[in-house]
Amino acid sequence: MWFFGFSTNRPENLWIFGAILLVILLLIVLKKMARYLEPQASFTSEKDIETESEEDHDTSTSQKIYTSCCNAGGIRTYALEELKMATNDFRIRIGVGATSFVYLAELGDGNFGAVKRVMEERGGSRKIFLDEVSVLLRVSHPNLVGLLGFCLEKGEQLLLLEYVANKSLFDRMHTYYGQSLGVLSWSNRLSIALDIARALEYLHSQADPPIIHRDIKCSNILLIDDNHAKLADFGLCKLGPFSDPNRPKRQTSIKGSFGYVDTNYLNTGFVSTKSDVYSFGVLLLELITGLKSIQGSATLAEWTEECRRNKNVEVWAKMLDPKLNGDANMEQLRVLVDIANSALVENCEARPNMSSIADRILSCMEPQLHLELPV
Ligand SMILES: *[C@@H]1O[C@H](CO)[C@@H](O)[C@H](O)[C@H]1NC(C)=O
Ligand SMILES: *[C@@H]1O[C@H](CO)[C@@H](O)[C@H](O)[C@H]1NC(C)=O
Repeated sequence: MWFFGFSTNRPENLWIFGAILLVILLLIVLKKMARYLEPQASFTSEKDIETESEEDHDTSTSQKIYTSCCNAGGIRTYALEELKMATNDFRIRIGVGATSFVYLAELGDGNFGAVKRVMEERGGSRKIFLDEVSVLLRVSHPNLVGLLGFCLEKGEQLLLLEYVANKSLFDRMHTYYGQSLGVLSWSNRLSIALDIARALEYLHSQADPPIIHRDIKCSNILLIDDNHAKLADFGLCKLGPFSDPNRPKRQTSIKGSFGYVDTNYLNTGFVSTKSDVYSFGVLLLELITGLKSIQGSATLAEWTEECRRNKNVEVWAKMLDPKLNGDANMEQLRVLVDIANSALVENCEARPNMSSIADRILSCMEPQLHLELPV
């Protein structure tokens, strides 16, 4: 170690040598750490422009699929084999639509989906299927059943939809299974009505172009739980643009479900967002009375008409579902019957829109403020 100007033979020089060695070692370690930190730093900044390091790729992709499924951006096409496997070869049927069957699908990550299989022998067609896909691709709302993917392979028409675990409002209210779960309370019914009003408000005035659902009925309302619901089945939807969405559009064939179809549309063939408002009025009557939308040869709207037309809320209370045992708020009943009455008028332009209906339901649900003045 001649270049340091001292000899390593002397013990005090050894200490100095050791200290220098330690400094050099420290420098090397620091440099290594710096090199290790560098890519970390650039990774963080690069993440903003969507480039990822190899090892983070898998987790961030599934993260992406997850988030995009929730904001309707990441809908993808599926291979027939994939959906066959997920549904265990279409084994567990969880629903029957007008032109389709719905099967439970296991998505592999512990999550479930619902595969809707449109059947041509049941009257389905590629056009109806593609119309439904194009509606689903445009909408994203917490109260609408979302699309995860679809498949058009080997003559199959398959939709992979969000799975809603608690069956339909029809099942909950009108089947032995549903009734065995206990009675839907008055406040449950109000919350469900509000969720569906919001879904329709979104379709009519926030979706672009506006969408008429055309098949509002309780079997198309799926329950997340007793207080939360999603609107399903976009198979009959009509897409805008309508020069004025409230202005009716003439249809060659009447579509919809008996008991719920707008009588004005039945008589004239003109469909509008107000046709959904009519069906929503029927749904409210169903929630109030606990009865199905058809009573013998009469619709529920006709069945309740005389009672509804009475101005006395005590008469309206006679319509209440006996299963509620009178456990309902009369002020809220007054609001719901009033909305139903205005939704069911023949003149569709006189019907309220879904925004004002949703607002009215919400404001009657908010706890009444009892202002107590200080004495
Ligand atoms: C179904 O609804 C019930 C009642 O609200 C709720 O307790 C339950 O968690 C729901 N089931 C699922 C799977 O979400
Ligand atoms: C709905 O009706 C209300 C009251 O008539 C009106 O003020 C509002 O502009 C309407 N909203 C839409 C989206 O048409």
